[in-house]
Amino acid sequence: MSTCPIDSRVIRPIRFIAGQCQMLDQRLLPAEEVWNSYKTYQEIAEAIRTMVVRGAPAIGVAAAIGVWFGARDIETESSWDFYQELEKICAVLLATRPTAVNLFWALERMKHFAQSNLDRSVVELKIGLEYEALAITQEDEKINQQMGRNGESLLVDGARVLTHCNAGALATAGYGTALGVIRAAVEAGKKISVIADETRPFLQGARLTAWELQKDNIPVTLICDNMAGYLMSKGDIDCVIVGADRIAANGDVANKIGTYTVAVLAKEHNIPFYVAAPISTIDLSLSDGSLIPIEERDGREITHIKDIQLAPEGISVRNPAFDVTPHRLVTAIITEHGVVKGDYLTGLNKIVKQH
Ligand code: MRU
Repeated sequence: MSTCPIDSRVIRPIRFIAGQCQMLDQRLLPAEEVWNSYKTYQEIAEAIRTMVVRGAPAIGVAAAIGVWFGARDIETESSWDFYQELEKICAVLLATRPTAVNLFWALERMKHFAQSNLDRSVVELKIGLEYEALAITQEDEKINQQMGRNGESLLVDGARVLTHCNAGALATAGYGTALGVIRAAVEAGKKISVIADETRPFLQGARLTAWELQKDNIPVTLICDNMAGYLMSKGDIDCVIVGADRIAANGDVANKIGTYTVAVLAKEHNIPFYVAAPISTIDLSLSDGSLIPIEERDGREITHIKDIQLAPEGISVRNPAFDVTPHRLVTAIITEHGVVKGDYLTGLNKIVKQH
C-alpha cells in the first residue's frame, strides 16, 4: 500500500509500478488517496467485488489484468492444460459483479486470445495475454477520448450539465465516458458547468465525480439525488449525460440506481438525456433491458455510513445497485464510433457488427 497523491491532472485509477498493478482505492476517496498493490488474480477479483475499482470500463480493465496475473502463475507446459486453468481463473473474475458487461467482454477477449493460439507454447501464451491486458488498458483511454470528440458538439457553450454516479476517469482507465464528453467540450473551449448527483448509497457522485472534476478545475456543484427535479423545474439544467453498465440491443440502458428517475424527470422537462458508453458496453445478446441482471448489494450500504447507523436495527432494506432506463427516454447514445439516435436496434447493431 502506498499513499502518494495523484501527481497531475491526468487521473488514471490503475497503474503499473515495478511489475505490480496498483489501484487507487476508490472506497476511501476523497478523504484519502491510497494506492493498493495487487499481485494475484484472487486479489484483483476481491478488489472488483469490494469496489476498490468500479465503473464498467475500469472493471473490464481490472479483470483483464487479473487474467494476465493468473496466467503468469499457471505452472504447466501443456497449452491445453494452461487453457483449462485459465478458464477457472476467468470464472472467478466473472463472479465478482453481474451488471457491467465490460467485465464479460474483457474476459471473453482474453480467453479468445488463448483459445485461438493453443498451437503456441505456454510461454508465448503468457506473453500474449500480458500484451492483450495492456492493450485493453491503453485502448480504453483512447476510446474515451474519441467518444469525447464525438459527443462534445452536443454540449453547447455555457451548458449546465447534470450527471449521475461517476462515469469519469475513475470509472475507466482514464478520461472517462460521460465526464470524457464534458472534458472534451471544455478542451474545445466551451464553458461547461456540472451538477453532480450525490448518488446514494455509495456516493460515487459526491465522493468521486466531485473529486475528479474539482481536480480538473471543471466547475461542479453537488446536489442530493432528490434535488434534480427541482433544479430542472427552475430551468437550471440544460442536459443530462450519464455512463452505462450495459446497453441492450434495443437501446435500454442499465446504469447506476437513480438514473431512470433522472431520465423520467428530464423527459418531463424536455431536457436532452445522453448516454456515453464504449461499444464494449453494448450487449446485443439481450433484446431489451428487462434481461439485464441487476446487482443487489448489502443493505448495510443504506442503513449505515461507515459505522454510523442511520436506520433502526433489523429494518428491511432493498439495495438494487442499478436500474434500467427505457430507450424511449434516451436522446442519443454516444460511442467511440459515432452517435446513435432514434432507431437504436438498427443503429447499435450496425455499429457493433462493423467493429
Ligand atoms: O457500482 P459502480 O460504481 O461500478 O457503478 C458505476 C456506474 O453505474 C457508472 O455510471 C457506469 O459504470 C458508467 S462508468 C463509465
